[in-house]
Amino acid sequence: MRVALRVNGREAAADCWEGESLLYALREKLGYPGSKNACEQGECGSCSVLLDGALVCACLVLAAQADGHEVTTVEGLAAGGELHPVQEAFLRAGAVQCGFCTPGLVVATADLLSHHPHPSEGEIREALSGNLCRCTGYEKIFAAVRMAAAGTP
Ligand code: FES
Ligand code: FES
Repeated sequence: MRVALRVNGREAAADCWEGESLLYALREKLGYPGSKNACEQGECGSCSVLLDGALVCACLVLAAQADGHEVTTVEGLAAGGELHPVQEAFLRAGAVQCGFCTPGLVVATADLLSHHPHPSEGEIREALSGNLCRCTGYEKIFAAVRMAAAGTP
């Protein structure tokens, strides 16, 4: 089936099979490999994207479900050649090791701060509880979120 959607503000379309995930279509057919495929079963959050502004795991959404909808991936956060403040904060805080979890964490953090510009420690931990990182121990990730929230990346 033909799936037509908007990705990061641009029209996009691909032929997909009925069971194909949005993550697969984004990475393999539409040229947006930023969202990572680590578990493909909704456990790790590395594939986090916004679907019509709502945070979702792209591995759990069918490409067909995104037909006619708006998707924002990590590639869509940077604007005009400038890093998104959350991306900048992750860099400055040293919150990236292998980087596999980073795109999902950046999207989830941007989503959190768009709803709660000054989240509490508990709100940060709750908001990122669906994003697993095997490398950092999370402290620098939480520091990056605090930096982005404080506007001091
Ligand atoms: S790849 Fe989607 S949640 Fe892990
Ligand atoms: S930096 Fe490696 S999984 Fe998070």
